[in-house]
Amino acid sequence: MSVTIRTAREGDYNEIDQLLRAAFPGPQEAQIVRILRAADADSLELVGAHAHGDHEHVLAHILFSPVTAKTAAGVELFGLGLGPLAVDGSVRRQGLGAAMVAAGLEHLKWLPVPFVVVLGSPKYYAQFGFVPASARGWRWDKDRGDDPDLTAAFQVLIRDEDRCPLGSHDAPVTLSYHPAFDMAE
Ligand SMILES: CC(C)(COP(=O)(O)OP(=O)(O)OC[C@H]1O[C@@H](n2cnc3c(N)ncnc32)[C@H](O)[C@@H]1OP(=O)(O)O)[C@@H](O)C(=O)NCCC(=O)NCCS
Repeated sequence: MSVTIRTAREGDYNEIDQLLRAAFPGPQEAQIVRILRAADADSLELVGAHAHGDHEHVLAHILFSPVTAKTAAGVELFGLGLGPLAVDGSVRRQGLGAAMVAAGLEHLKWLPVPFVVVLGSPKYYAQFGFVPASARGWRWDKDRGDDPDLTAAFQVLIRDEDRCPLGSHDAPVTLSYHPAFDMAE
């Protein structure tokens, strides 16, 4: 099946909503995406679409939104967070998820984005160059430090080493997603 990966358009939003509601256990991800768009915080949104006659069917979706990194000294730096990522259940395990991530990162190549973070499977995201954020003293602000799997799931892809300060255990760099992620019910 041929799938075209392109930036999302307003005409895709209903199908994206349906895809996210089917892919995740609850409606939160679909709500977060709508809140991010309304807040103009949908920094990059791509779909994987399959042409079906004169209609295109959305089979995959990925969104990148703003993330703040704050050093212990209070210096702020802005990057992006990857997610949610979703692929229609009928076409999983064929590389479409990886193609969506690769296409997103390719788009960002032309933008001065110093880092991208993700919360997800380290095994999966390592193929794109993501490494555990904790290795450089970076910490997700929601991580209370009591779940090693959660800490390991928070990963970073550094795109401009010179602009990304190192943290430490005692003085971590703290990463915060857009407030939309706390606003879904
Ligand atoms: C995660 C998802 C996007 C992967 O899409 P896909 O098109 O199947 O991805 P790919 O074909 O590139 O890769 C599939 C492989 O990666 C693994 N993988 C992908 N994401 C993974 C995750 N979050 N955890 C563990 N393994 C994962 C799959 O198990 C599979 O490996 P296998 O075939 O050896 O078992 C899809 O399964 C999905 O939409 N899931 C529901 C939503 C979700 O959990 N999104 C991720 C969190 S934002």
